[in-house]
Amino acid sequence: MRNNGFPLPTEEEMLYGHFPEGFIWSTATAAYQIEGAWRADGKGLSIWDKFAHTALKISQDENGDIACDSYNKIAEDINSLKTLRVNHYRFSISWPRIMPDGTTRKINEAGLNYYHRLVDALLAANIKPQVTLYHWDLPQALQDVGGWENDTIVERFRDYSDVVFNSLGDKVKFWITINEPYNVAMIGHGYGSAAPGISFRPGTAPYIVAHNLIKAHAEAWHVYNDKYRAKHGGIVGITINSDWAEPRNPYKQEDVDAAVRVVQVQFCSSTISASMTVLLSLTRTKNVNLFFIPRNSSRLVEFTPAEVARIKGTHDYFGFNHYTTVLAYNMDYKNLEHYDADRGAGTVADRTWLDSGSFWLKVTPVGFRNILNFIKEEYGDPPIYITENGVSERESMNLNDVHRIHYYDNYINQALKAYLLDGIDIRGYAAWTLMDNLEWATGFDDKFGFFYVNRSDPSLPRIPKKSVWHYATIINYNRYNK
Ligand code: NOJ
Repeated sequence: MRNNGFPLPTEEEMLYGHFPEGFIWSTATAAYQIEGAWRADGKGLSIWDKFAHTALKISQDENGDIACDSYNKIAEDINSLKTLRVNHYRFSISWPRIMPDGTTRKINEAGLNYYHRLVDALLAANIKPQVTLYHWDLPQALQDVGGWENDTIVERFRDYSDVVFNSLGDKVKFWITINEPYNVAMIGHGYGSAAPGISFRPGTAPYIVAHNLIKAHAEAWHVYNDKYRAKHGGIVGITINSDWAEPRNPYKQEDVDAAVRVVQVQFCSSTISASMTVLLSLTRTKNVNLFFIPRNSSRLVEFTPAEVARIKGTHDYFGFNHYTTVLAYNMDYKNLEHYDADRGAGTVADRTWLDSGSFWLKVTPVGFRNILNFIKEEYGDPPIYITENGVSERESMNLNDVHRIHYYDNYINQALKAYLLDGIDIRGYAAWTLMDNLEWATGFDDKFGFFYVNRSDPSLPRIPKKSVWHYATIINYNRYNK
């Protein structure tokens, strides 16, 4: 039962034991970051294979050819998950592993087989899968014909999701279509520091990409709804990411407004394209900034009424990735081709916030509760699953990761307060990430894992950091102290 603030829980209760019955405790990974086996058993190339094999794209010229070798280490990964005591595990499927050229022309059974073995091993360990269909590794063959900028991608994604639902649908009940569309659109096709690395092309690329991402998401949801929901009874949603933003100067209305715009843009409330607004606003109850008007709207891609009708309501829950807070200030960009011109805001960090191993991530737990409240208010109190939250370090090995314990204690506590005191419908929490892995353009430098992976030992042993026992304890208390 949700309690709306009375009686107040004790401090200890605030930390342990009061998430709802059936709460999902999970940890998350993504295929390219952990699997390795980049051309094993008929796998096709992905845009990340190509990007990482291009000089200077990834720190220390690293790549995911081997990564954590999870393709060959199902047993080891299951062991790590059991040690953590999670009841769910979020991982993603590599599209080119099962459809080497991205189309149904060839289905690579060996690839599908890997995911069956993984899911079977999880279920045998009493850990349920949460499966992401698209965590950034597009088949290179599809990129060669325009990738997310070419609207035929919508059909390709529909076909791909159909193949996966058909094959794994009786075993997997929790589906995430696309991970962080904002980053796919903006970092992959605007700033260019993620694959496919499209940059210096100020213009419409990220907006077209976002438009197609959301249409693709909606098609996958419809496939599930039409063909599989009755049979399998699972849920399908999309995972959105956003930082929380506070005004740099809270006494300046223009900074207050800038902070709202920063969050809205990351939620793709409009600048990325009207797409996310279509997806999310349709469940909004409050008419606050319903359609955010960007400072420079010339690039937005319009949805047709038919598209709007097709997209409307295509989410069974709100998937949410969150890590940090920024301070926002009003800024009118002279160069309107700069993507940040759309949000008309710059961001900085407060000097007092604790650092992590990642330049963009400061330890700011209260922002988590604030943004959960924002979601509740803006999007009509949807059921929320936290699909990522976590912190990094940069040391080559730090098994005594008290900073991670501090981070999880504080962030989970804010989530618990959001649930207990603010009545927010949080149904699950996934910590990023199971083990140190390829953190995209920063390679293996930024380490987010519960387990350290010793990369100088060819068997890539997973060594638990101190936070493993801590997360397991939080889960354990929650499980038995109902
Ligand atoms: C977001 C992404 O989904 C994930 O792949 C990444 O490693 C983490 N955040 C940490 O940056």
